[in-house]
Amino acid sequence: VTGESLIERFRTARSDPGLVVLEGFHAVKHAVRFGADILEAVAEDPEEIGTLARRLAPDVAEDRPGAVTRVPAGTLAAICPSPPSTGVVALARRPRVASYDVLADAGAAPVVFLEDPRHPGNAGAAIRVAAAAEAAGVLTSGELDPWGPAAIRGAAGLQFAVPVARVRELPPADRRLVALDPEGEPLERGTIPPRAVLAFGAERAGLSADLVARADARLRIPMREGVSSLNLATAVAAVLYALRLD
Ligand SMILES: C[S@@+](CC[C@H](N)C(=O)[O-])C[C@H]1O[C@@H](n2cnc3c(N)ncnc32)[C@H](O)[C@@H]1O
Repeated sequence: VTGESLIERFRTARSDPGLVVLEGFHAVKHAVRFGADILEAVAEDPEEIGTLARRLAPDVAEDRPGAVTRVPAGTLAAICPSPPSTGVVALARRPRVASYDVLADAGAAPVVFLEDPRHPGNAGAAIRVAAAAEAAGVLTSGELDPWGPAAIRGAAGLQFAVPVARVRELPPADRRLVALDPEGEPLERGTIPPRAVLAFGAERAGLSADLVARADARLRIPMREGVSSLNLATAVAAVLYALRLD
């Protein structure tokens, strides 16, 4: 395999809907830990990655010893617009996730729906907290790819730990739909039922009028007077953890 074909492979993977580009140690670590099918991993200094793995993720280091291929200096800069400081990049197969399966999950955990998010870092941070708080899944609408390289980076690869799928629009489901909106009624203990779909709006535009009209409830996270809204991912975190501690 020549250096050029490797660079080409990683470059084309960025827009390949069948693949996932994992940039940085934490993204690769989570992907491996949560069962990703890693196709290849490269670093300019694989020994350093091995040391990092043994220190921060011995489970992963033990699972895949020596799985990182050395590449010439400058390769990471050629395959990533912003090379990760931890110096490792990998390709994985993208799992198929059906929104139907996410919504049909029989457990009490909520599903997070992000309506038309615009910032991949925000979508990634929302996915990261959804994985941590054990949400049943994350669905997104709009153009942003929640499995794209920047969203993967924002989520530290935790798309592999919680089902994540993009939908054209939110499908009907046997779940209550709760719109989270700074203009809603105050969120109080016990107001969100089990298995709800929690809908969050876009960073600038908020939720669409259609989504609000469909919702069974419209709730706001209380804020100090004068504060107009929370950041999207922060709002997702506040609601998921309020529910967990309920
Ligand atoms: C940055 S906010 C959007 C602000 C937008 N100008 C608006 O008025 O909705 C992005 C999303 O985060 C959620 N959000 C932010 N602050 C919230 C709050 N205090 N209560 C409930 N949801 C909130 C909402 O779902 C909102 O659509």
